[in-house]
Amino acid sequence: MAMSDMVKDLYSRLKVLEYEESPLAPAERLRAMNGPLLGWYEEHARILPWREDPKPYRVWISEIMLQQTRVEAVKPYFERFMEALPDVRALAEAEDDRLMKLWEGLGYYNRARNLKKAAQVIMDEYGGRMPADYEQLLKLPGIGSYTAGAIASIAFGIPVPAVDGNVLRVISRVTASYEDILKQSTKRRMEEELRETMPRDRASHFNQGLIEIGAMVCVPNGQPKCGECPLESICLARQKGLIGELPVKTPPKKRRIEERTVCIIEAPGETEAGEGHRIAIRRREDSGLLASLYELPNVEGHLKPEELAAAFGLDPEAIVRTEVLPEAKHIFSHVEWRMIGYRILLKRALPETFLAVRGEELKEHYPLPNAFGRYTKLIKG
Ligand code: ADE
Ligand code: SF4
Repeated sequence: MAMSDMVKDLYSRLKVLEYEESPLAPAERLRAMNGPLLGWYEEHARILPWREDPKPYRVWISEIMLQQTRVEAVKPYFERFMEALPDVRALAEAEDDRLMKLWEGLGYYNRARNLKKAAQVIMDEYGGRMPADYEQLLKLPGIGSYTAGAIASIAFGIPVPAVDGNVLRVISRVTASYEDILKQSTKRRMEEELRETMPRDRASHFNQGLIEIGAMVCVPNGQPKCGECPLESICLARQKGLIGELPVKTPPKKRRIEERTVCIIEAPGETEAGEGHRIAIRRREDSGLLASLYELPNVEGHLKPEELAAAFGLDPEAIVRTEVLPEAKHIFSHVEWRMIGYRILLKRALPETFLAVRGEELKEHYPLPNAFGRYTKLIKG
């Protein structure tokens, strides 16, 4: 029998054994992946430019590019980028136009902007060398837990997991987990578990092996190629016929989009002079969204500055000036507010329909819901 057939035979017997005897505990099942995964990766890994020379800078740039584009499409962008901006310093000092040109076609231009911001932080705080530390990587702009884990493990050999959508799919199937892979909490738990079970001295190949299985074998669209998969003997979804059901991805809820205009209305204090100005708030109705809570004056719709006085019952003559504030968004379970905002300064006291409170009173006694957070921050006093 050829070696590979022997291995297959052993796997199938292991599977039968497992079926008949007590099943593996979840952590043991994850640990059981290590050997087959590393063996498979070392034989099947594609040769890719960032794998040939896994310098931290190269791993970083490649991982950011790979978040939005397939490997084959990334290759030419990656080579061109490395030639144009070969190190952290070049990236930190790159002209924005040049950077955007190098990124053109990859889309999600904020990722390129964050690359440059992070490069500047690395210049300022780490002397131009990427930090060999998961927590420090995680603090850099544009680097989340997946990318921090990928750089730490692939470039520095640090034993931390790198869990992306591919890895979530593979592990959900191997462990037959029905947890929703679109939830942050599922990803966090998987990261914690893999951190315990992954081989401490082979982090790079382990993580890349999982990513590679997710890309080439346990594919995102279409039937997984279980016959070629090194995890077949330990994969619970395969054993139990659950591949069609797993992973679970609950589609995000459909939310009604509501446009709103929020105002910070400031007016002089009513009585003693020199008391500083007051902010208008009011109490919401006793039922419905944010029932009975205090709020900044707001109305449905995106109003123009000249529509504000009528909408909020203000005397147009009393408005000293109107300032445009940034836009904001807040997601409730069934509604999403898309907000625009204004600061309105009055020369007379507020109409009685509002509660007129001082800035510090507001912070202490009238906590406003998070939905207004973008604007609450802009209240002076
Ligand atoms: N997709 C995301 N990261 C990758 C990597 N390091 N190699 C291949 N495909 C990937
Ligand atoms: Fe995916 Fe099949 Fe491998 Fe299980 S055995 S991890 S379902 S390819």
